[in-house]
Amino acid sequence: MQEALLAAARKAQRAAYAPYSRFLVGAAVLDDQGRIHAGCNVENAAYPEGVCAETGALSAMVLAGGRKVRAVAVIGTGSAWITPCGGCRQKLREFGAPDMPLFTGNASESGPTYTLAQLLPESFGPDHLTDPS
Ligand code: THU
Repeated sequence: MQEALLAAARKAQRAAYAPYSRFLVGAAVLDDQGRIHAGCNVENAAYPEGVCAETGALSAMVLAGGRKVRAVAVIGTGSAWITPCGGCRQKLREFGAPDMPLFTGNASESGPTYTLAQLLPESFGPDHLTDPS
């Protein structure tokens, strides 16, 4: 499962549109139906309007009817492992449990695995809105 997710993220990375940063990112999420949804970063001449790969993968999942993320993989440019930006961590929190694994990797290897709770400790999520007590 880890390898399949990393492979989907690597494939998505090849579609990335990042002419400004030249930092190509691919991401993939596994939903609770066992389906993999991928995304790539899409930049914009108005720089802040760019969209991260993780956000694209989540959008693809939601469009396909997925509402839970079981695992995530992210591939950045170069040999270093990357983890999602703060905004994407919060977006993942919407659909992922605290123990949801996030797999890192590069073009040829897998890197460390983190849980969502490690990446976004003591987080705010949908459960707070439904149980305000
Ligand atoms: N980026 C992602 O797509 N995901 C990450 O986890 C980190 C950063 C993108 C945003 C921007 O297009 C480029 O990488 C450089 O920051």
